[in-house]
Amino acid sequence: MSPIKPQSGMDRVAPYIPGKPIKEVERELGLTDIVKLASNENPLGPSPKAIEAVKGALDSVNFYPDGQSYELRQALARYLNVDPDWIIVGNGADGVILETCMAYLDEGSEVVVSEHSFPMYDIFASAMRAKVVKVPTKDYGLDLKAMRQAITKRTAIVFVCNPNNPTGTLLRRREVEEFMESFPDDVLVVFDEAYYEFACGEDFPDTIKYLRQGRKNILILRTFSKAYGIAGLRLGYGIGPKEVIETLNRIKEPFAVNLLAQVAGIKALEDQDFVRRTVQLVNEEKQYLYREFSRLGLPYVESYTNFVLLEVGEGAKEVMNRLLHKGVIVRPCGGYSLPRHLRITVGTREQNERLIKALEEVLGEVR
Ligand SMILES: Cc1ncc(COP(=O)(O)O)c(C=O)c1O
Repeated sequence: MSPIKPQSGMDRVAPYIPGKPIKEVERELGLTDIVKLASNENPLGPSPKAIEAVKGALDSVNFYPDGQSYELRQALARYLNVDPDWIIVGNGADGVILETCMAYLDEGSEVVVSEHSFPMYDIFASAMRAKVVKVPTKDYGLDLKAMRQAITKRTAIVFVCNPNNPTGTLLRRREVEEFMESFPDDVLVVFDEAYYEFACGEDFPDTIKYLRQGRKNILILRTFSKAYGIAGLRLGYGIGPKEVIETLNRIKEPFAVNLLAQVAGIKALEDQDFVRRTVQLVNEEKQYLYREFSRLGLPYVESYTNFVLLEVGEGAKEVMNRLLHKGVIVRPCGGYSLPRHLRITVGTREQNERLIKALEEVLGEVR
């Protein structure tokens, strides 16, 4: 019997390869004491307030969650100082990216992305049979001028990942302002700010400002997976004009955001002290990693996130595999069209020391 054929968009979809889970490496390689620095998770663990909230809500999981995430949206609206109707909560920021692609793309539409950026834009857009236009980066960063030039009559969405995954680079306020000045009104621009908390500051673009000014073609994405430390609960959100949010709500799974994630999100948001501690640790440890990478003679890209892109050369995959056998999981970047690079999440000092020790050994073996 021949296999059932999926719809034609699926021919263009290359599967997303996530960082290997610790349990999988334990199982496959018979190792224990594994350090995972592959998925940009929080080195401090989850926000303690979020853990407490989850424990308190366990008795209620016989009920469906609130499909509108009312209380979480209220809390986010207060925190961001925006209208709750401008917010959609998703099963991770990934969930909102999927909803956006489903709502705004079809065969014949084009999507503009950067050549080295988060793969889910490409995957979901391709599945909707849209054409994905990849614009080369400039010094590892997004080239906004070239992305602007890549817009055609068919362009439906432009994805701007800022700071960018996997390069860690930042687009500054002035660059984004210039980009927005000539941005067409009939194209949706999605600013994916999953790493916002690590980069925010005076020079970070005020993207929410465009919503306050009444622009109707912008969506901003943020997540609880990184600085808030609850990646395993799957919680992200989009901030956009009421009309875009209403559109996304029409195709949203009714109970996409589970009950535990909702209560955890409310409490995690209150736990800004945890976010500050996370950012401080990551910033200190990034300096440690930079020093060590320089000592090992490995070029890296200065990062505005909780990961660093490291150039190890042609044998990057081999280096990744050998690190794996020493119990350190890092991310190869072939799937991001950077086959000479590894993406390394910033860990605690102990974890980072493990990484550096293993990396030094591996480089001695392969060079
Ligand atoms: C740039 C970017 N966007 C979105 C996501 C997805 O985040 P979430 O865990 O909220 O689905 C990630 C996760 O790594 C990311 O790096």
